[in-house]
Amino acid sequence: MTIIDGKKVAQEIRNELKEKVAGLKSAYGKVPGLVTIIVGENPASKVYVRMKHKACEEVGMNPKIEALPATTSEDELVSLIKKYNNDENFHGILVQLPLPEQIDEDKIIETISPEKDVDGFHPVNVGKLLIGQDTFEPCTPAGVVELLKRYNIETKGKHVVVVGRSNIVGKPVAAMLLQKKEGANAIVTVCHSAANNLSDYTKSADILIAAIGRPRFITGEMVKEGVVVIDVGINRVDAPETKKGYKLVGDVDFDDVSQKASFITPVPGGVGPMTIAMLLNNTYKSFLRKQK
Ligand code: GUN
Repeated sequence: MTIIDGKKVAQEIRNELKEKVAGLKSAYGKVPGLVTIIVGENPASKVYVRMKHKACEEVGMNPKIEALPATTSEDELVSLIKKYNNDENFHGILVQLPLPEQIDEDKIIETISPEKDVDGFHPVNVGKLLIGQDTFEPCTPAGVVELLKRYNIETKGKHVVVVGRSNIVGKPVAAMLLQKKEGANAIVTVCHSAANNLSDYTKSADILIAAIGRPRFITGEMVKEGVVVIDVGINRVDAPETKKGYKLVGDVDFDDVSQKASFITPVPGGVGPMTIAMLLNNTYKSFLRKQK
């Protein structure tokens, strides 16, 4: 059994990007810029935004954070996004979700120029992903696919079972692995909470991708011997024995499922660190596209 080390792979990607960004600097005299917009005081969002900013700096890109109060109106946010749509120093615009309830998330996502939508959430980019055109792949699904590639896990003809149908993970990862291309070409099943007997699906998975948002939901008896397990879940559970009083666990019961798996991602240290690496990758890609 191999534990997939997402932290290590993410660091490799960041090291690669650091070199590439240095190359851009000498070739073009400038570097990719990423603006991250956060509205309100959601503690988890603040942590993520800070991590994105730091990672951006580390690879030599130009990050900026726009922190707006929770009372910001939709119109104000739309104006700010439009400003950055027209600012050629910024190649990526990321609006951290969730947004306060007075703001319509769909409208905000659609305001971001598809050429700067490094999250890959704009309907134009989602459509391109589905039909196999070049686009920004959403960061977490891109991280999943990249981990499979870097661990030389064959996907062609394999049965990938995705548990969860979110727009951020389940649907796009299914679309990506379905494409007829290298690193994909899988037979993909998407299942979710409405399934009468989820195990009927999960047991037939060669590769199981868990993105349900329920702690330790996937147990050993739900998978077959030799399965490859990618756990996208990040759930807080009470842990009175720790200093913080909680710990993070995935959607997979790691101790149980790892008895049967051939490869498995841990939480933390699996898919999580890959998300930011792929965000940097998309920002780099956006910059390069602009130069052409
Ligand atoms: N909130 C949770 N995950 C994400 C993400 O990948 N991008 C953005 N913009 N917000 C998020």
